[in-house]
Amino acid sequence: MKKFLLALGLVTALTACGGGDEAAPAPEEAAPEEAPADEAAVEEATGDFDATAAREQYEASCISCHGGNLEGAMGPALAGEGHTAEQILNVIQNGQGTMPAINIPAEDAENLARWIESQ
Ligand code: HEC
Repeated sequence: MKKFLLALGLVTALTACGGGDEAAPAPEEAAPEEAPADEAAVEEATGDFDATAAREQYEASCISCHGGNLEGAMGPALAGEGHTAEQILNVIQNGQGTMPAINIPAEDAENLARWIESQ
């Protein structure tokens, strides 16, 4: 979630700069610049993924059974359970117990699995 907000902040900053007739950026817009280094460190530790795309995929395919915050619903909690991306990917593609296999492109499934692993 923090990353999502950072990404939004970046987009906002870029949009503001593209305006041309805008005055120099307000001082507070300079602040988020320290964040990317932080973000890169996190991505290195957990594998590369697109959190925004993963979140969208999760909402489209998993949220109904695993809850809005991966806290579990009819299916078990996914956040903080210590599953590896490979385990998660395997469940997405093959199903497990009463969970059906979820038919989404492999690339999306891998991105989603890495994102869930980091939650
Ligand atoms: C139709 C409801 C449903 C949907 C949709 C669904 N799941 Fe599940 N999921 C379950 C149930 C139920 C289980 C428990 C299966 C079992 O072990 O019997 C489960 C188990 C899992 C597990 C293993 C958890 C564990 O502790 O063993 C993972 C990982 C998982 N789901 C990921 C996902 C992902 C990612 C998606 C979306 C791509 C998704 N699920 C979509 C119902 C669902």
